[in-house]
Amino acid sequence: DKVWRIGVAGLGTVGTGLLKFIAERPDFAPAGGRVAVSGVSARSRSRPRPVDISNLAWFDDPVALANSPDVDLFVELIGGSDGPAKAAVEAALRAGKPVVTANKALIAEHGAELAATAEETGAHLLFEAAVMGGTPAVKMLREAMVGDEIKSVAGILNGTCNYILTEMEATGRSFADVLAEAQRLGYAEADPTMDVGGFDAAHKISILAALAFGCAPNFAAAEIEGIEQVDLLDIRMAKDLGYRIKLVASADRSEDGVLVRVHPSLAPLNHPLAQAGGALNALFIEGTRIGRIFLQGPGAGSGPTAAAVAADIADVMANARRPVFQGPAKALAPFTPVDPAKS
Ligand code: HSE
Repeated sequence: DKVWRIGVAGLGTVGTGLLKFIAERPDFAPAGGRVAVSGVSARSRSRPRPVDISNLAWFDDPVALANSPDVDLFVELIGGSDGPAKAAVEAALRAGKPVVTANKALIAEHGAELAATAEETGAHLLFEAAVMGGTPAVKMLREAMVGDEIKSVAGILNGTCNYILTEMEATGRSFADVLAEAQRLGYAEADPTMDVGGFDAAHKISILAALAFGCAPNFAAAEIEGIEQVDLLDIRMAKDLGYRIKLVASADRSEDGVLVRVHPSLAPLNHPLAQAGGALNALFIEGTRIGRIFLQGPGAGSGPTAAAVAADIADVMANARRPVFQGPAKALAPFTPVDPAKS
């Protein structure tokens, strides 16, 4: 049985969830083979963690971990669109090593460039965990929707914002109070501005738009508004009128181009998006032939996100080959944004 030696960079919520899972089920991959963690890297070695890392080879520098001859597959869970995450992913891809990442900022901002490197060296680059945590939105768009033309994707892609809006309505607690709880529960980003400012949802919808429309991610073209301005009074007034405020991310294709937006929206109380409470994520996909698909599930947190990372690792072990986006990376252009004045 082949042993896949995995290097894990980033030991926060997702990284420690993955270590726990691998310790419990090293032989989880359906194609056979076993997974063993051969090295780890994080900002601090000594910070308290729910898993014991004292027996694992430690690397101060994630690039050194990616380049280590003892690493067959590199898992990047550091986060951030630039800096050590990007450097380490590039190093692994250049060495022809498969990369699995949960990093939505990295893929949304540099996905096309990284896909081109992966294509050159034949390395896998997989990022199921970057969007909707444990709910397989990336696989669904990449694989199942190949036989259709997608018109739009829209939904709730940030668990932290959904949790905040849900709890403010249910308990009357303040924005700051509920945000602190979302951080304790492991939903929020290290910098919660990414969540409440709408940027995290914008990274995710940019990735989904690329997969849905066969283009390169174009985060720079996203129109972004977060939930910082939403207060309890807005939430109560919306409810009195029969609506719930949700942070909705959407990508629509028309003859004029693609419009990618994130903003607080009013959903009628009986609408599936209004009924996705707590930290749930939810997504509508509208296809020309398939019609409408609705997908709902966890989008954040240790267990679900680590499960998505594990599913990608299993794909690498099975050597499942698909383009990183839809089609050869070199041929992908960023989509043409719609002129907002026309929308
Ligand atoms: N901070 C993100 C969220 C984590 O709340 O959805 C999952 O990407």
